[in-house]
Amino acid sequence: MRIFSGIQPTGQKHLGNLIGAIDQYVAGQDRGEGLYCIVDLHATTVAYDPTELRARTYDTAAILLAAGLDPDRCVFFRQGDVMEHTELCWLLCSVTSWGDLNRMHQFKEKAGNERELVSAGLFFYPVLQAADVLAYRANEVPVGDDQRQHIELMRDIAERFNSRFGDTLVVPEHRIPEVGARIMDLQNPTMKMSTSSEGEQGRIHVLDDPAVILKKFRSAVTDSGSEVRRGEGKEGIANLIDILAAVKGTTPDAIEAEFADSRYGDFKTAVAEAVIDRLAPLQARYTELRADEDALEAAFKKGAEKAQVIASATLADVREAMGVGPRS
Ligand code: TYM
Repeated sequence: MRIFSGIQPTGQKHLGNLIGAIDQYVAGQDRGEGLYCIVDLHATTVAYDPTELRARTYDTAAILLAAGLDPDRCVFFRQGDVMEHTELCWLLCSVTSWGDLNRMHQFKEKAGNERELVSAGLFFYPVLQAADVLAYRANEVPVGDDQRQHIELMRDIAERFNSRFGDTLVVPEHRIPEVGARIMDLQNPTMKMSTSSEGEQGRIHVLDDPAVILKKFRSAVTDSGSEVRRGEGKEGIANLIDILAAVKGTTPDAIEAEFADSRYGDFKTAVAEAVIDRLAPLQARYTELRADEDALEAAFKKGAEKAQVIASATLADVREAMGVGPRS
């Protein structure tokens, strides 16, 4: 079983990234051969500052390692270090339709009304994402719910490639967690927690101080009721139930039973405390790891060497199947 996932080095990583994705990456190390990649090339598709990009890439690397990724047990690397991703992206464009890319929710959201002005990179973003996974012939892709459409597209691309050029690529499956696949914004619980949302009050960063975390949870938007249970109009409480269930490794039902007699205020404090406890060891490890950029570069280098062995073999097969370059 080969597992692949990628994460952007933009902004500060939040609780949605941790619960929806990073926790599944860590678990994947025990279930199969994990490959995890920081997608710096994807981050160039929106306005960005080059110095910032490097710094955020190190931040993200240190977070992933602090969360439990072990470069000796998985292939941990930076996308921009493995050229095969960009070559495969181009080759896959031949089996990707313009119409499909134009229907991608994330493109529509990010481009907004500025479709003529946004970079072509943003439009081709999902093809590069498909190349990331297909280059490794990965079977499974752990992601949050918001990546569902991108995974569907990469499956279509792999199927189309195989039927046009012969069986070459593996059609991957998504792995979306049962609890915590879509952590919502604490101030606006009908919207997902997102790096790009305005204001930080609704978003818990994995590196936030305990006092800040407590304050954000205490001011989380709920409803005028008083029962700690899921239900219509109770998106805020349902989100807190999901967060606590994910952090404690239990089910939302068990959380509802445990807090059946609690008031919202006490429940919010309990969620905050559980999240603070969960993040404390990660934050301590992060500070140590982030201080040594040379060590992070060394980890990237080692990972890229391992990744390239796999990706270059796929590329050789893809080129051969497509009749590109010299005969093998
Ligand atoms: P990115 O960097 O936006 O997010 C990283 C992961 O976090 C998940 N996630 C969430 N999960 C639950 N609740 C939320 N509120 C929440 N917000 C984000 C995302 O689903 C994702 O799994 N396009 C990808 C990066 C990528 C990739 C890949 C992923 C590039 N190549 C190949 C998988 C395979 C992205 O922008 O993730």
